[in-house]
Order: sequence, then structure tokens, then C-alpha cells
Amino acid sequence: QLINRIPVTQESLTAEPLNGQDSITVLYGSKSGNSKKVAKNLHDKLIARGFTSVLQDMNQYQGNRLKDEKWLLVVVSTHGEGDPPPAAEDLHAFINSRKAPALDSTRYAVLALGDKSYASFCQTGRDFDTRLSALKAIPILSRVEADVDYEETAEAWIESVLAKIQENFGSAVPSGLPNLQHTSSVNQDGQLVSGTQIKYSRKNPFRATILENIRLNGRGSAKQTHHVEISLEGSGLSYQPGDTLGIWVENELSLVNELTEFKRYNTTDPIVYKDTTLSLEEFLLKHAELTTISGSFLSAYCPFILDPAVAHSLKNILADKETLSSFVYGRDILDILVQFPADISAQELAAILLPLQPRLYSIASSLSAHPEEVHITVGRVEYEANQRVRRGVASNFITGRLQPGQEVSVFIEENESFRLPANGDTAVIMVGPGTGIAPFRAFVEERAESGFGGHNWLFFGDQHFTTDFLYQTEWQRFIRQGALSRMNTAFSRDGQSKLYVQHRMQQHASELFSWLENGAHFYVCGDARKMARDVKQTLIGIVCEQGRMEPEAAVEYVKQMVKTGRYQEDTY
Ligand code: 2AM
Repeated sequence: QLINRIPVTQESLTAEPLNGQDSITVLYGSKSGNSKKVAKNLHDKLIARGFTSVLQDMNQYQGNRLKDEKWLLVVVSTHGEGDPPPAAEDLHAFINSRKAPALDSTRYAVLALGDKSYASFCQTGRDFDTRLSALKAIPILSRVEADVDYEETAEAWIESVLAKIQENFGSAVPSGLPNLQHTSSVNQDGQLVSGTQIKYSRKNPFRATILENIRLNGRGSAKQTHHVEISLEGSGLSYQPGDTLGIWVENELSLVNELTEFKRYNTTDPIVYKDTTLSLEEFLLKHAELTTISGSFLSAYCPFILDPAVAHSLKNILADKETLSSFVYGRDILDILVQFPADISAQELAAILLPLQPRLYSIASSLSAHPEEVHITVGRVEYEANQRVRRGVASNFITGRLQPGQEVSVFIEENESFRLPANGDTAVIMVGPGTGIAPFRAFVEERAESGFGGHNWLFFGDQHFTTDFLYQTEWQRFIRQGALSRMNTAFSRDGQSKLYVQHRMQQHASELFSWLENGAHFYVCGDARKMARDVKQTLIGIVCEQGRMEPEAAVEYVKQMVKTGRYQEDTY
């Protein structure tokens, strides 16, 4: 284990104690994600100990923020022959430029990741250390350098950093406290008065402003697919391509009204919910799941049904899984109240309704291309079933009701199982018909920004070329720029017979197989029930035929791709 320690100056040991409000920045410059992993680990430990820590990708970090840093913990790897990883390039250039500010009130530590088989081992970490020190920043401990088997070294570094910081805080922050949110000192922007940030989450979502909400389909299309841009400014939220955006939505007022009128409930009646009291209307709009029905709700509802024979018929439905799943399709709570008359008060109903869940959307943007923004692609769900028009709660809330300037509660949900290859030079094949296109816009934007050399091949499909070619001009630009190497489209309703993405795959079977043989990663996003299954079957067929394999061997080939993370799905 190679750890290169450089003596620490006396100065660093006598640095003044930290003010309890100071924020710590954990800054990483990652290529394969190792630096990020270590940084995240350190960040989580700082939070767990009650410190206020901000995890930052160098890619999204403005160099002039350095001067405000009191505590800067840097984890950075080295790329190729001593170069910074692409994500660290700008910041590396900045600290080496004349623009770099004096950092005499910054204390810092550097963990350099590298590969001993290169002569310029850990060069980027060394550069950061040297420059920070030259800019008068004070090291809290000497730089540590770690080889490819970095884990133990990184662990030890994290522990030393924690010990140093704990020492400096003295008794200001006790060890082992849960995440300090300092909510009492939050200003209107959700920012802590001290300049530190809340960690937003599902339970504690960020109130984000809608920037754009535009329909992507042309006039005459049967589809209503919206492109929605949301501001994350001031939230400190970050995400990677492949991640999802959680949105807290509201039910439709018309549905709530129909329901309360049918049951002759008074919308202003107080409902006790989770230790608070709110009006029935507000409860039904914001807290109750009204458009999806679960078995547990139906079971809890049975005892309230007036007629035992009717109750029995519902129990029969509940008894069989398949009967139940076809029964709940296209039905909402109002249907149940109508079909199974019951003596149930508003409060009793409130007690058995399931809590309204946030809806998750695949993120359609890359943060590098759109700093402090997140974009999603939302297809409006509307269909007729059981004599009524059914509308998807989230897609209708988002496409129909959210105007630019309005706010919505959001959070980021990581999706580690849908990720661009760690190596930017690895080719990717992306299959995303309809709104399944979303994460691939993020993928291609990310790769366009980072300038990696990996080839990108996109399959897209939708109903009609003239009205449903989502993000058409963007794809054309990416193709011109070389960020997108190939694109094949399948417009299903323009010809005599249905044409789907998998038909296009089949037409290019030989090239597709050779991409796979050369290590390409394969991604599918969109409809889980039919499309993703058909695409996988087609891929197995292509492997079988092009690789001249037995069917079992082809199945095994794709299975291996799944196992090694080279076949990834994001389906719904
Ligand atoms: P269709 O609606 O004309 O049948 C995005 O929704 C696109 O995916 C549409 O063009 C849709 O075609 C198509 N699609 C529907 N079922 C599919 C399947 N099983 N495999 C691939 N694409 C499909």
C-alpha cells in the first residue's frame, strides 16, 4: 500500500477552532466514480456526525467559489498521462491560472487517486495540493496518495480528516449526532442563513420553480408529450444521467368534488391526519391516493359495505390475484364507492385511504449541459375505461396544471442501475421509444459536454414522424456535432404496418452485434410490459443469428450482459 505523506506544518495544527456554522465542502473530480464514491462516503460521515457538509462535483463547481470555502476536502483522480479527469479540467485550469484567488482562510486536505503503473502517478492530486498551498490555503493534514486498490487508504484518510475536523470544532458539534438540518435558520430560499444547505429528500422535498412546460408533439398528434424544465437553483441538489426526479403531485379537484358530492361529505369538514387537522378537500387533494386502488384498501373497505352479499362479491375479487389486478385497472376510489355502497364517514375513509405517493420521472437532462436545472419528458395519460375518462394523476397535474413560475415539490432519487459506462470511451446503444427517450437525452448531453470518444447509437420510435419526433432538432444537432454517432427511428403509424424500434434493430443486426462484440453497453427505457420485453427478445435473436449461436447460448450471452451491467433497463 503506497501512502506518500508530506510533513504537516505547525501552522495547520494551531488553526483556529471552527465556527459551529461553517460549512464543509467535499469536492471531487471523478472519472470512473471512485473519487465520487470516496467523497460521498466522507460527506455522509460528516453529516452523520452533525457537520454541515456539501458534496460537490468539480464539474459543476465555479472556481470563484473557492475564496468562500472555509473547509475544502478534495478527492481527485488522475487521467491517463498525468492529466486531470475531464470533470476536473476546468477547476484544475482555474487554480493554475492568474484568476485564482488567495485562499488564506481556507483549510484543506487532498486525497489523490491514481494508478502506480503510470509515471505521473497521482499528478492531478499533487497539482491541487501544490496550488492550494501556494494560494495560502492551510493543509489540515498532508496529502495522501492511493493506488488502484485505494479503498483502505481512502478509509484511513477519511478517518484522519474526520479526526482533524472534530478536533477543530472542539465541543461545538458533538460527535454521533444525526443529520443536523438547522431548519430553524432557513431563509425563504431554503438556504441556511449561515450559507450552508439543507439536504432535500423525498420527505423533505425542494420547492422548485417551473421554467418551461411545452408540448413536444405537433398539431394533430394523438399524443401529449411535454418537455418540462424545472429550476434547482439554490437547492444544492445534483444528479447524474440515469437518475429520476420525484414529484409530489395533487389529485384533480373535479375528482375530489365528484367523490365528496357522491358521498354527501362536506369538503370543509376537519380530517385528522398524521397529528394535524386539515379540511377534507385538502386531504383528498394532497394526501390521499385516489386513482390507484390496492388490495389493502379494498380489504379495509369491506367491513363498511352495507349489503353482505355485495361485500362478499368484493371478497371474491380480493381472493384471486389475477382477478384483482384486472379489476383495479381503470378504476378509482369513486368507482369503488359507487359500486360497493357503504356506510363510511369521511374520517373513516381518510383512515383507510393510502397516502398519495410521489411519482418518479426519468431525468431528461444533464447537469453539465443545464446547471441548476432538471428536465423531464412527461406523457399525458388519458384513456376511457368503465364508462369514464381516466387521467393519470401525475402526468395530468404536470402537463395540464403546472405553468412557468409555479412551484412544485421535488427530490432526486438515485438510480445506480441505469448509468453510462464508467469509461467514456465505451460505446452505448440506447433504445427509447416514446417518453423512453428521456434518459438518453441526458446521456447524449452528458457525453457531448464531457467530450468523451465513445460512440452513441440511438433507436427512437413513436407514432408519426411529422408530429411525434421528440427532440428532433436536438438529435440533428448532436449528429452534426458527432455527439450522436447513429440514430434510427421507427414511426409506427406512418406506413401500412406497424414499425417498431426492434424492427430497426433487426435491420441493422450485423452492425449491432459487432458493437456488442466490441463491448458496447445496451440500454432500454420505456414501456415495461411489451416494448422492453420485445426488444430483449429481438436482441437475443440477433445474438443468436449473428453470433451463430444456439438459442440457449444467446440467452446466456444477454444474461451475462445484464450481470456485468452492460444491459440496463429503466422501464415502467
Ligand atoms: P403504437 O402505439 O403505434 O403501437 C411509443 O409509444 C412508440 O412505441 C409508439 O410508436 C408505439 O407504437 C410503440 N410501441 C407500442 N408497442 C410496442 C412494442 N411492443 N415494442 C416496441 N414499440 C412499441
